[in-house]
Amino acid sequence: MSAPRGQFSSNFGFLMAAAGSAVGLGNIWGFPTNVASNGGAAFVVVYLLLAFMLAYPVLMAELTIGRHARRNMVQALRGISTGPVSRATGTVAGLAGIAVASMILSFYAIVAGWMVAHLADPFAELVGASEAAQWLTGDSASRNFTFTAIFSGLTMLIIASGVEKGIERWSTLLMPALIILLLLLIAYVLTQPGAMSGLEAYLIPDFSKLSPLLLLSAMGQAFFSLSLGVGTMLIYGSYLSKQESLPRLGALVTLIDVGIAFTAGLLILPAMYVAQEAGTQIFAESGELIGGPGLILQVLPALFDTMGTSGLFVAIAFFALMVIASLTSSISMLEVPVAFSIESLGLKRKPATLLMGAIIFGISSLIIFNFETLFGLVVSISTEYGQPLLGVVLCIFAGWILRRDQLLKELKEGHEDIEQTLFWKVWPWYVRIFCPVLILLTFVQSIPVLWA
Ligand code: PHE
Repeated sequence: MSAPRGQFSSNFGFLMAAAGSAVGLGNIWGFPTNVASNGGAAFVVVYLLLAFMLAYPVLMAELTIGRHARRNMVQALRGISTGPVSRATGTVAGLAGIAVASMILSFYAIVAGWMVAHLADPFAELVGASEAAQWLTGDSASRNFTFTAIFSGLTMLIIASGVEKGIERWSTLLMPALIILLLLLIAYVLTQPGAMSGLEAYLIPDFSKLSPLLLLSAMGQAFFSLSLGVGTMLIYGSYLSKQESLPRLGALVTLIDVGIAFTAGLLILPAMYVAQEAGTQIFAESGELIGGPGLILQVLPALFDTMGTSGLFVAIAFFALMVIASLTSSISMLEVPVAFSIESLGLKRKPATLLMGAIIFGISSLIIFNFETLFGLVVSISTEYGQPLLGVVLCIFAGWILRRDQLLKELKEGHEDIEQTLFWKVWPWYVRIFCPVLILLTFVQSIPVLWA
């Protein structure tokens, strides 16, 4: 029949790939931005709680279903189903996961394209091509289209090479580079004047900012950051050998993801206050710290500009960091529809990559040319609603549909004494009842505020 399925060659390879998927723009951009606009360390505390209490259990649901079924999300959810209702639900949820993964990639590739353009900018400046530099950092549709195409092409090249030679090889190469760049940048920024006020804004909590909406953003941030709900972790789990302990690897992925988000905050918030010291406006009219594109594309570049020639190198390091972080995440999104086309539609990997990559690039282009209407809408549907709601479905499948003996057997693989662990005593119940209820409650509690 079809060619043998891909598999990660080592647990380190899996770890780098899964952590690479998790660590992305969500950590280096989303997390510090959320911290800045939600009361500093108050957000950090809530986020840490939700990451371990909600996101880790959902991550475990995905990894377990994936490794048990050794199939893409649609076939995995159908495969563990026992009756017509769960099978139909599995098909719909699986297809929805693939659709949401594709939607996320369609806007992610645009943002990552901005990062590539900003990485090219210092080189243009170094050779004195000032018109090119202006185009690179301007905000034209032609610039966005070009760099989304470049970034999508890179993502497709890696995915076309398969699980071991593509995903695993590039993730094990890029993740260490990412950590080194991040640490070098922090060391540099923390020695600049103003950095300490940034640390204060980051680390001293203002609990008066706690609100229903803060909970909702922290949950959304945790789901996005750990790549949950859309079958990414499920498919990576399906490529993992049965000799590895799932709860341990899942915990490591969560720790790395949260650790890098926290560490990125040590870079971004101090950098903002250094920029302020150098004369850049860092507060919006509302009195809040500037977040989002204004922060990454204006405040930080303004800071690099004040540093003269060395600023060019700092800019290169910073945007290289962003591109690397994006690429190890975007490949994990593209793998979701590609694995589906290989296993369910019978395509070979290269044509499957080309087809899915082209469709998603088509959606990106639509967004680029209708930016004002579509960008925010796609982000909100996919990350605020799609990911958490699909997370509920995955918890239900792991907790209620997958038989308990099958669940135990899967978790025992690579972890013989699992029955003696706290994990086994708590998680199966937790994922059945607490997780779905907590996720839904977080939604419900925010509705009156959202609609007010
Ligand atoms: N976790 C990635 C980030 O933080 C985004 C992502 C979402 C990746 C969903 C895969 C699937 O940037």
